[in-house]
Amino acid sequence: MSDQSTGPSSTEQTISNLLKEERRFEPPADLAASANVTADAYDAAAADREAFWAEQADRLTWATKWDQVLDDSNPPFFKWFTGGTLNASYNCVDRHVEAGRGDKVAIHWVGEPITGGADDTRDITYAQLKDEVSQAANALTALGVSKGDRVAIYLPMIPEAIVAMLACARLGAPHTVVFGGFSADALASRVDDCEAKVVITSDGGYRRGTPSALKPAVDEARTKTDKIEKVLVVRRTGQEVAWDDAVDVWWHDAVGSASTDHTPEAFDAEHPLYVMYTSGTTGKPKGILHTTGGYLTGAAYTHHAVFDLKPETDVYWCTADVGWVTGHSYIAYGPLANGVTQVLYEGTPDSPEPGRWWKIIQDYGVTLFYTAPTAIRSFMKQGSEVPDSFDMSSLRILGSVGEPINPEAYVWYRHVIGGDRTPVVDTWWQTETGAVMISPLPGVTAGKPGSAMTPIPGIEADVVDDEGRSVPNGSGGYLVVTSPWPSMLRTLWGDDDRYVDTYWSRFKKQGFYFAGDGAKKDEDGDIWVLGRVDDVMNVSGHRLSTTEIESALVSHPKVAESAVVGATDPDTGQAVVAYVILRNEAGDGGPDIIKELSDHVRSQIGPIAKPRQIMIVPELPKTRSGKIMRRLLRDVAEGRTVGDTQTLADASIMDLISAGQATST
Ligand code: WTA
Repeated sequence: MSDQSTGPSSTEQTISNLLKEERRFEPPADLAASANVTADAYDAAAADREAFWAEQADRLTWATKWDQVLDDSNPPFFKWFTGGTLNASYNCVDRHVEAGRGDKVAIHWVGEPITGGADDTRDITYAQLKDEVSQAANALTALGVSKGDRVAIYLPMIPEAIVAMLACARLGAPHTVVFGGFSADALASRVDDCEAKVVITSDGGYRRGTPSALKPAVDEARTKTDKIEKVLVVRRTGQEVAWDDAVDVWWHDAVGSASTDHTPEAFDAEHPLYVMYTSGTTGKPKGILHTTGGYLTGAAYTHHAVFDLKPETDVYWCTADVGWVTGHSYIAYGPLANGVTQVLYEGTPDSPEPGRWWKIIQDYGVTLFYTAPTAIRSFMKQGSEVPDSFDMSSLRILGSVGEPINPEAYVWYRHVIGGDRTPVVDTWWQTETGAVMISPLPGVTAGKPGSAMTPIPGIEADVVDDEGRSVPNGSGGYLVVTSPWPSMLRTLWGDDDRYVDTYWSRFKKQGFYFAGDGAKKDEDGDIWVLGRVDDVMNVSGHRLSTTEIESALVSHPKVAESAVVGATDPDTGQAVVAYVILRNEAGDGGPDIIKELSDHVRSQIGPIAKPRQIMIVPELPKTRSGKIMRRLLRDVAEGRTVGDTQTLADASIMDLISAGQATST
């Protein structure tokens, strides 16, 4: 990845040009004038990082104040706020009630079905949330859960998911939330790995208007692992469920009958809060471990800073599922620690009508909205007519997370959804980092479409070459975090060696955290995350990013979405293979569509980036969290049998794509 050339080739020059996006969006003056965080925070944090983070930790309520901000005596096993004690659930719930804000709505929950004209909704105040969390904590205690025990949560996007997480946190029992779309096998392997003794699930949930069952997967998981002692079942859909009296317990019985009194115990700042499994480069998922004090500090501070959160007036909505880290940091922990009112939505973006999301924004007056580029691109595909028919003038900041956002998608998001008023915060972070690391600040930064810009105050990150040397502006390399931060992962569950190997051995000498992403610093030193290092292609010795070519394709008026992979090629090492979804209004694109797109990429980036093959496809293979599975597309491009499709949201997509490939060659 290092810039080894003596002078930039014409290709590198043109890539740099693409990245030198000309459009800039200054913060709105009123937002800048009243921003939570201003430009001087960067200097303050740099001058004394530990003092800065101590100040952020003071956002929380501690039972015992810490002795030391950062204990770096045994790297990379860093500890934060040692000696301090606190309870995360108390911080997210009780303290708001004690401060007289018990009647404030914590969660506007919106169920997917719209039955008989009356929406399936629930407003939950902080006082009600405190009662339910206390009841759930008492019920879990009665089921034998105590401090240190692990609990798996396998639920749809219903309020009980948040209640369950907070009840576990209240007891000091680390939770592991397994996304409801995962299979019984995936659930069993996670339960097994962290030895969870209780699983909290539901009969089912609603997806596109149809009840879809969950409990059978737990029943099946119990045949694959012997760790599960009790299963606590929320009744959501009323579906028939198989029942084992020795194991299964209804939520409404156990939680419903429990006392609303529960005194939270204060735990050590480094007490484990949760384990979140994420895929690594090998087959076995990694159990990312987050602890209490530093994590909650990071989640609360970043939510305050990056969304310029005004808890008195803002209505916040993050569309992520609680089964992913975004749902942990920016639905459960950050927003609730900050005492905000938020929307929680159960279903899919376009059910039962294409404008469902925009209607929710209109109905609840959402001011801060956080979603993923993949969703934005799929809305782009449908055009602006639907969103234009809703009043979304309440919106003041839009966020993006999960993958690089193409400049065109960024501009569409800002223009069509944000009415050209709203800054877009492109937030780079990972399950491992626990909280946002690189992002514009909405009241400070003049945003560039496609760039995550700079590390936020308190975070130190850089782009380095193979040797770990900071690359000059205008060059690319590896994204690293150069000093520890409070919400960092502490280890991989039960596997300290893999933790050290995966993240800390690549730049061991420098002691940098290796994020696994490639990035580029532009001429101003702003950071453009290019995607996972393994998605970077090498074509005839030239480095090309899948994202750059995807951006070029998406900037063509007929293209809605694209995915690019590097396929092994006997002549050039790797060759570019592009899969493209056309916009509805483009029809089949016309007879010359392939040439048109190919010429477009050629003119946008250069001849070297011209795809060897372009395939027009109806859909792209995505994981249930919306990430494109390039590995499968690479299989097709290289003529191999398509590999494991277990984590795909819709496995039949690969059959369609493979069939298209067979006829196109
Ligand atoms: C990618 C999600 C570019 C990146 C919070 C990272 C991004 C991985 C961005 C982590 C962004 C996330 N721009 N790439 N704003 N945000 N990524 O663990 O490759 O599901 O390493 O965490 O997503 O994904 P994860």
